[in-house]
Amino acid sequence: MQKVAWESLLRKLEVFVLVFVGLLLAIPARAEISPSRQEELLYFLKHDCGSCHGLTRSGGLGSPLLPETLADRSDEDLTEIIMEGLPGTPMPPWKALLSREEAHWLVRAIKENKWKK
Ligand code: HEC
Repeated sequence: MQKVAWESLLRKLEVFVLVFVGLLLAIPARAEISPSRQEELLYFLKHDCGSCHGLTRSGGLGSPLLPETLADRSDEDLTEIIMEGLPGTPMPPWKALLSREEAHWLVRAIKENKWKK
């Protein structure tokens, strides 16, 4: 009787450990961008992207990067443009400097006007 209870407890513990390890493994795959990296990305957006798109992103050599002008473009397409650049135009690829998550974060920052805050 007691042995059975002990075994079932062990089995529960086993399940718990498996779930816990599974969660730990899952974390790096969906890592959040840290607040300090977000600061860096906003600085980057202003100075690096801004050098062509305008310090206020209203356009320059590059097209305007404003919520209104990008609202009807998908996040995926814009992320792709940032990662790969636009061949035949001065828009360079940024994949050597940014991860896909970071490029997507920038798209959201542009669309949500985060750089103003
Ligand atoms: C060397 C200049 C230059 C820099 C630096 C630059 N861009 Fe561009 N970008 C351009 C040009 C030029 C275009 C427009 C290309 C075209 O369609 O003729 C463009 C287009 C884009 C587009 C597509 C906009 C649209 O309406 O189709 C996005 C998004 C974009 N850039 C984001 C960025 C981001 C984010 C950065 C910083 C990581 C950046 N760019 C840095 C020159 C630049």
